[in-house]
Amino acid sequence: MNWTRHDLLDLQELSREEIEMILETAKSFKEVGTRDIKKVPALRGKTVVMLFFENSTRTRTSFELAAKRLSADTMNIAASGSSLSKGETTLDTALNIEAMNVDGIVIRHGSSGIPHYLAQHLSASVINAGDGCRSHPTQALLDMYTILEKKKKIEGLKVAIVGDIAHSRVARSNIIGLTKLGAEVTVCGPSTLMPPGIETTGAKVSYDLDSIIPESDVIMMLRIQMERQEQKFLPSIREYAIKFGLNSNRLKKAKKDVLIMHPGPTNRGVEISAEVADGEHSVILDQVTNGVAVRMA
Ligand code: CP
Repeated sequence: MNWTRHDLLDLQELSREEIEMILETAKSFKEVGTRDIKKVPALRGKTVVMLFFENSTRTRTSFELAAKRLSADTMNIAASGSSLSKGETTLDTALNIEAMNVDGIVIRHGSSGIPHYLAQHLSASVINAGDGCRSHPTQALLDMYTILEKKKKIEGLKVAIVGDIAHSRVARSNIIGLTKLGAEVTVCGPSTLMPPGIETTGAKVSYDLDSIIPESDVIMMLRIQMERQEQKFLPSIREYAIKFGLNSNRLKKAKKDVLIMHPGPTNRGVEISAEVADGEHSVILDQVTNGVAVRMA
């Protein structure tokens, strides 16, 4: 397949074949990460700028490593310390950076749609590293890669996504990607954290974690996104942990080969207990490892 895309904004815009091509390409890039010299020349002479206007540990580091391992020159710009704090708009900031002959811009922003808006105005390639509650396409791609690596297939698997679905770009992107690849996705959480119309995405909806654990091949836990909540959606974190937290006791009812995933950052003792996060079923750090290969791809 010829790759003619210029930007990566959303998984909605990718066909199943395009997603499969990225995941296949990531396989060979994963091997590069195990070498003594972790570098290939694919982006030699190119410049990639990371505009992270919202906090990040995994995604920012992962994109920077990915670009460096492809031999690109990289730069990191955060909101604090940039001229955004002097009133410059995000578009003006991006246009000024592009004026320095930058080839790619990786952007994370707290507002939904900013990467799409920039892509309409920039000649540089724009890659969405997470925008508001809307999309986190590379997180979903690395999640799909990890499932495929561990389970050897995605088609027909039952995947539960549990937690704050309403505020989760990870949930949205995974529902789109996983259903495109033939998984059966169930979203689970308190009704106050379930967005209206979620059924139209093709995902099933459950409000009872215990009832979906036994049938799930993959359980993806999500953090409560306090930073995106303007009102109180939960009576208390303690009550949430009792009803929706994944702990060793709950996990006893799961399939023997269940995969436990989490995009990070985890809030141990809230949505996932320390024993489960560090336990034999957890692939949380594999997700992080695979993130570099997938972002290289
Ligand atoms: N999963 C994820 O996006 O983590 P960061 O916020 O640390 O990048």
